Amino acid sequence: MKDNNLYLEVAISAAKEAGRIQMIHLGQIHSVEYKGEFNPVTEVDRLCDELIQRTILKAFPEHEIMTEESSFKKKGSPWRWIIDPLDGTTNYARGFPFFSVSIGLEIDGELNLGVVYIPPFDELFVATKGEGAFLNGIKLSVSQVDQLERSFLATGFPYDVQENPEVYLPYFHQFIKRSLAIRRPGSAAIDLCYVAAGRFDGFWELNLQPWDMAAGVLVIREAGGKVTDFGGRPINIYGGETLASNGFLHEQMLQVIQGVRKR
Ligand code: IPD
Ligand code: CA
Ligand code: CA
Repeated sequence: MKDNNLYLEVAISAAKEAGRIQMIHLGQIHSVEYKGEFNPVTEVDRLCDELIQRTILKAFPEHEIMTEESSFKKKGSPWRWIIDPLDGTTNYARGFPFFSVSIGLEIDGELNLGVVYIPPFDELFVATKGEGAFLNGIKLSVSQVDQLERSFLATGFPYDVQENPEVYLPYFHQFIKRSLAIRRPGSAAIDLCYVAAGRFDGFWELNLQPWDMAAGVLVIREAGGKVTDFGGRPINIYGGETLASNGFLHEQMLQVIQGVRKR
């Protein structure tokens, strides 16, 4: 418990400081580079990556760190911080105010802590295992919507969607026929936290990376929601299939996914 408080304090301070940097540079991005053909990175992604790593390693030098912007060095430590220093880079680079900092902590392979900070709205989502999920200190719980036809859903597409639209679009096609509305906000960490807050009822995406979802998965679980892979098995954040919901809609969403897979 004492350790958890310390982890949380460090994660929140790193996320807020990264958010401050993002707000200072918002609207001033001149150079967007590409990792591969479509995956953008800005100098602010890198600045925030360095800052968060520095903050965590100063407090916990023996802990392992996995981030989107640095190569992973395995230390064989039970503690693994899983970080997306800027989730929603495409939005950020265009001044579209929908981006976040995502910091999760696994201990012995189990998600223990999740912090997602959304700087433009000053919204801080925090969850610790077994202790609930909170938005700016207020306890969160998922929505009660239990009919897919009434659901407000979110999704995202990985950077190879231009090359392989036939892999991703069938899910969109089927869900749009079955739901009330779908949004594609552009930050998976936010999408997951919005399910936790009851703003969305469900979310699906293929090929997310562990840093996109580590924190958000715990926030949803602690808010009473459910996160699995596309076969309904417990989520594996290294596995690339993410289906999140308020729990009530999970089975209906799984059926839609299974329908697409059978085609
Ligand atoms: C991306 C965002 C987006 C999702 C992509 C991610 P990035 O992360 O989370 O919503 O659809 O799959 O790669 O590159 O902005 O950190
Ligand atoms: Ca990301
Ligand atoms: Ca990122």
